[in-house]
Parts: sequence; C-alpha cells; structure tokens
Amino acid sequence: MIKKAKIIGTGSYLPERVLTNQDLEKLVDTSDEWIFTRTGMKERRIARSDEYTSHLGAAAAKKALTRAHLTPEQIDLIIVATITPDFVFPSTACLIQQQLGAKNAAGMDIQAACTGFLYALSVAKAFVESGVYQNILVIAAEKLSSITNYRDRSTCILFGDGAGACVVSSEGKGLVIESVRLGADGEQAELLILPAGGSRQPASQETVAQDLHYIKMAGNEVFKHAVRRMEAACKECLEAAGSSEEKITYLIPHQANLRIIDAIAKRFEHLPEERIFKTVQQYGNTSASSVAIALDELSQKYAVQPEDQILLTAFGGGFTWGAALLKGDA
Ligand code: ACO
Repeated sequence: MIKKAKIIGTGSYLPERVLTNQDLEKLVDTSDEWIFTRTGMKERRIARSDEYTSHLGAAAAKKALTRAHLTPEQIDLIIVATITPDFVFPSTACLIQQQLGAKNAAGMDIQAACTGFLYALSVAKAFVESGVYQNILVIAAEKLSSITNYRDRSTCILFGDGAGACVVSSEGKGLVIESVRLGADGEQAELLILPAGGSRQPASQETVAQDLHYIKMAGNEVFKHAVRRMEAACKECLEAAGSSEEKITYLIPHQANLRIIDAIAKRFEHLPEERIFKTVQQYGNTSASSVAIALDELSQKYAVQPEDQILLTAFGGGFTWGAALLKGDA
C-alpha cells in the first residue's frame, strides 16, 4: 500500500530588522501611498549582513523539527528551495545539514524561483510515497535583499527576507499532501531574471558596473501571467484531487502583490475573502519562502480539522507555477 506523505510540523523565521515603506522613501523616488495601493505592502524583513540564507533556513527548520517531535538525526533528506543560496555550490541544504547536525540526511537544493516550495514539496511527497525515505525536511529560504537593487524603485519595494520549513513524513498526524500540479514555461525566462553570475555571463567588472547581479523584472507582464497560471493550477489541482473550491478551508497564494491575490480571489466566486490567507502586508514577497511562511503562520493560528482542505499556489521566474492540495488527516 502507498504510504501517505504528511506535513507533520511547520516552522518559520523572519529576521528582526523591519524595512518600512517610509524607509524606502529615503532610498528611492517612491511613497508609502504608491507602494501600499499598488502592492498592499507596508513593510518587509531584512537579514543582517552576517545572517545568510542557510541561517534563516536552519532557524525555520529547528522549529519545524520541534513541532514534528523529531530530532535532526531522524531526518533522511533535506530539500532547500532557494534562488539566493549561500554559494553557487555547495548546496544550501548541505550547509543546513551541518548547522542542524542532521548527520543521517542527504541534501539538495531546488531552484524554481517563487514556486520552489511547491516543487520541493512534490519531490518530498514522491520520496515518501515510494518508501525511499520516511522523514524529509523541506525548507524554503531566501535572502532576497542580497540580489535586490536598492536604486531600482520598480523592484526594491517588493522583496523581503525570510524562511519557512516543514517536515514531510509517512508517520504521525498532519496535513496529507493530496495532490500537486506543477508547470513551467522557459519561453518567458527573460521577463524575470538575474542576468549575470551564471555560465552565460560570469561575474566581471562589466556585469557589476551594469547592475546585472540584481533581479530584473517586467512587472506588468509577470502580473498577468501570475494571475492566469495560479488560477489554472488551482483548478487543475482541485480537479485531480476530486475536490472543488467550495470545500477549501484556506487558500494560501504566493504573496507577490495584494492585487495579484485579489485578482485570483475574484476568479474563485465560492471562496470568501476571509479564507484567503495573507502575509504580504508585513513580509512583502519572500519568493520561495512566501507560501511556506504563510503555511506556518496559519498552522500556529488555526487548529486543522480532519475535514479541512488547504490549497497552496505559487508563480515565479522560469516561468514556473504550481498548486498543492493539503487535507486534514482523518
Ligand atoms: N514608486 C513610485 N512609482 C513607481 C514605482 C515606485 N516604487 N515603481 C514604478 N513606478 C512607476 C513607474 O515608473 C510607472 O510610471 P510611468 O507610468 O510614468 O511610466 C508607473 O509607476 C506604473 O508602473 P507599473 O510597472 O505599470 O506599475 P504596476 O501597477 O504594474 O506595479 C508591480 C508594479 C508592483 C511591480 C507589479 O507589476 C507587480 O507586482 N508585478 C508582479 C510581480 C510578481 O508577481 N513577481 C512574481 C514573483 S517574483 C520572483 O519570482 C522573484
């Protein structure tokens, strides 16, 4: 019999320092009013200069392990979703394995931009259901401030740092990962990109002078694709699981922009506003971490019942997109 893959513990970590819209007004030609009305954001968190993605991820992972009642030694695999790894290699998963003392765990990173947490969850689900591994730590961690150009007002207002984590296991009680749908479209790669630092444009004095080590985004275009793809992924995911929007207890969308979240909400007429979980106002867009952080915050506020269904969805660079349906453990 196929074992069910369940989320048996979650955790998150947000750096202490708060960067408000008023702080951004001092850096670029913008205003609290513009940022709030166009994005719904009020503030975001920024990591210290000596605090790296692996530190954020390890802090979130420790909380997830505690809530799952597991020790680091009981973890078989660590998967880290990030676009801001500590290094190109070794992987951030290996660095977190060392920081946690998870000496029996294998480790790898997954890069699917803002959809990374959902891609990582789907890999964990496959490993657990196939019986290859029992306990997997899925971590989404980002230090986006390290690739954000604080002279570019069209992007610097959006991004924040933070990490979310969960333990996926075949044992214990939790949220069953019922179905996951993933998608990608490399035709649109240039619309959301960090141009330099890879093999195509290795770091050089020219790439640094041209600000090519920062996120570049065609915001308007990305916006339209994000709404369309997340809506479709959610509907496909619900259909694959034999569910429907009326049965959803909470929808957790990627926290990229409140207007994107509202546009998706409009396409789900049976899902009341209060069932759409939001953190965008206080944390901004934390890329792969956004859904993972929101899932942890929801888990701390709300005791999941057996009949509950939680739908996650995300969209990001690549383009990549996806949705996952979690169900209370009957
Ligand atoms: N403050 C004031 N004015 C600004 C700012 C700012 N911070 N930024 C842009 N503007 C100006 C522009 O220059 C433009 O002025 P113009 O009309 O004189 O040319 C005007 O505001 C409108 O700009 P738009 O880009 O059309 O504004 P829009 O309403 O589209 O909002 C935003 C921009 C917030 C970036 C939006 O497009 C968005 O959220 N896009 C999607 C982001 C997203 O989903 N990303 C996906 C994941 S991210 C990842 O994978 C890492």
